Amino acid sequence: MKSIVYERVGGSDVLRLVERVEPEPGPGQVRVRVAVSGVNPTDWKVRRGALGSSLPPTGQVPNQDGAGTVDAVGEGVDPARVGQRVWIWEAAWQRADGTAQEAIVLPARQAVPLPPAASFDLGASLGIPALTAHRALTVHPDGPSVLGPSALAGRTVLVAGGAGAVGHAAIELARWAGANVVSTVSSPRKAALASAAGAHHVVNYRTPDAAEAIRKTAPDGVDMVVEVDPVVNAELNQQVIAPNGVVAIYADTSGSQLTVPLRAHMFANTRLQFVLVYTMPDAAKRQAIGDVSAAVAAGALRAGEDAGLPVQRFPLTETAAAHDAVEGGAVGKVLIDVRHDGRSKPPASR
Ligand SMILES: NC(=O)c1ccc[n+]([C@@H]2O[C@H](COP(=O)([O-])OP(=O)(O)OC[C@H]3O[C@@H](n4cnc5c(N)ncnc54)[C@H](OP(=O)(O)O)[C@@H]3O)[C@@H](O)[C@H]2O)c1
Repeated sequence: MKSIVYERVGGSDVLRLVERVEPEPGPGQVRVRVAVSGVNPTDWKVRRGALGSSLPPTGQVPNQDGAGTVDAVGEGVDPARVGQRVWIWEAAWQRADGTAQEAIVLPARQAVPLPPAASFDLGASLGIPALTAHRALTVHPDGPSVLGPSALAGRTVLVAGGAGAVGHAAIELARWAGANVVSTVSSPRKAALASAAGAHHVVNYRTPDAAEAIRKTAPDGVDMVVEVDPVVNAELNQQVIAPNGVVAIYADTSGSQLTVPLRAHMFANTRLQFVLVYTMPDAAKRQAIGDVSAAVAAGALRAGEDAGLPVQRFPLTETAAAHDAVEGGAVGKVLIDVRHDGRSKPPASR
């Protein structure tokens, strides 16, 4: 089978196409024929050495997310899973095997049934973005910890960067859960994408009256902020956060040191909550996987330009170009077509 691998950290030129023997699933594992591999910023950051330069002796296959079809199961896994379409999460986290290869063996729980109407494109877009968004939307001290219709009714959620992959998932999940959804963007094109994803109100965060515009849509303030750029947005967040509100910070886009006005936050009893998908509590991860699957089944999570998440595709042999596209700030989702045979041909994006 074909695999993309890197044996040292560095630029995308470290990625090589190799032939490998197809792996057999061990106890508790499934083997998935990968149809589509999803690329996230974490994939190029780790490849560049964000987690250090030591790599598995066999090299590292990149990419955490993907979708495909189970074609073999190990001992202890229900054989009825063979033939099941699945989405994959955290394939390469503390493992040598990511989804940039034709077949992958991984623990059965990391291959989640994909509802029949959902495309492999959507399946490969879920893992990192949707699980992160779910976590950010469920860390408010007054709940909910479970998302579903009406779970966020009466709440206002501010999604920073609604045209981003995580922002897109946050808008869709918050909207599905019944929240009033405000999103910030930097351009008319991104405003159109955030609206297509379902944001009720879209505000350009680069305009001087952004706080006022957000306050207009939420006079009592926003209950939750799903934050991609805490440094740049610190002042804006302080101006719009509701008493007891939460700013859920999942990225360090403009720097790794944050200065916040302590008294203002203290008086409002706000909470700054940090979010990292890999290390979030296991119970929260399990809940997120279940809720994300339910949202997919309900048609609430979608991919494609019409849904506000344009897709850019690359063949497996051009994985380096796919990584470069994400590193260069591609708008929407970057996907890699791994294998398109009779079984894995994706239906139209949803
Ligand atoms: N902690 C975690 O578990 C976790 C999980 C997933 C991703 N991440 C990290 O989160 C970041 C985003 O990931 P992604 O996949 O969503 O990337 P993405 O698709 O590139 O989206 C990032 C979005 O943020 C917007 N943005 C940048 N500065 C902004 C600001 N000041 N206010 C509002 N929006 C702003 C960008 O648009 P404009 O620049 O045009 O505004 C872009 O639309 C990456 O750094 C990634 O590594 C962390």
